[in-house]
Amino acid sequence: EETGIEILPVAGRIGAEIRGVKLSADLDPGQAAAIREALLKYKVIFFRGQNHLDDAGQESLAGLFGAPVAHPTVPIKQGTDYLLELNSAHGGRADSWHTDVSFVDAYPQASILRSIVVPESGGDTVWANTAAAYEHLPEHLRHFVDGLWAVHSNEYDYAAQKSDIPEESARHYREVFTSTKYETEHPLVRVHPETGERTLLLGHFAKKIIGLSSADSANLITLLQNHIIRPENTVRWRWSAGDVVIWDNRATQHYAVNDYGDQQRIVRRVTVDGDVPVSIDG
Ligand code: SIN
Repeated sequence: EETGIEILPVAGRIGAEIRGVKLSADLDPGQAAAIREALLKYKVIFFRGQNHLDDAGQESLAGLFGAPVAHPTVPIKQGTDYLLELNSAHGGRADSWHTDVSFVDAYPQASILRSIVVPESGGDTVWANTAAAYEHLPEHLRHFVDGLWAVHSNEYDYAAQKSDIPEESARHYREVFTSTKYETEHPLVRVHPETGERTLLLGHFAKKIIGLSSADSANLITLLQNHIIRPENTVRWRWSAGDVVIWDNRATQHYAVNDYGDQQRIVRRVTVDGDVPVSIDG
């Protein structure tokens, strides 16, 4: 291979590990193009051993995929321009299926996550391919969802999802995440702007399907979400410190498995700006 990189698929429908590359903003253009292509094809790409990257290096790496953007409500990590730190010791456990920041109109197209501290066991992350989820829906169901839209909001109730979270952390998270209220409407079936694939756009910020009763909306979201996260549509990553994982936030959801108790886990994320989702009707 002339770029010197190796692409090794991990699961059948999503995920590839990329070897033979030292990530940085000055990647060889051939390597950068191969990585972007792999990202579109595999939806999430994994790089081991990128311990040379520091916070600034991670932020400038993001520039290969688009313009970095800070989270709209969560304060950035001190000394950085865009980084969001999730530290388990402060309640930073993203153990609910979601697409990053889907409560704004033009939500991020990609996220770049770097592991800093990894528990001795546990703390994996799982990604689901929302294009495969759409493709494998029964045809009648595809037709049914094609024209639907959903309301996405950051008034997502963190405490309701987690039985074991201390009330104080839950309150803190609620306050930080919803310090400014955001709400938008997205098509349930989003046409991917680069691949043309149809993807199911839901995740924990999706509050309601427009035009259905609350009960029907909740039932349909549950039905579709269960399709999205079928094991066949997912890939699971066992982290080592210094791993970098990049996902196409337009074609995935993810979930950080909260199975490591009091052990520490720290990851840092930078997101890259996206565009307003387009439905199958244009
Ligand atoms: C995230 O939700 O962006 C972070 C996922 C993780 O902590 O593995």
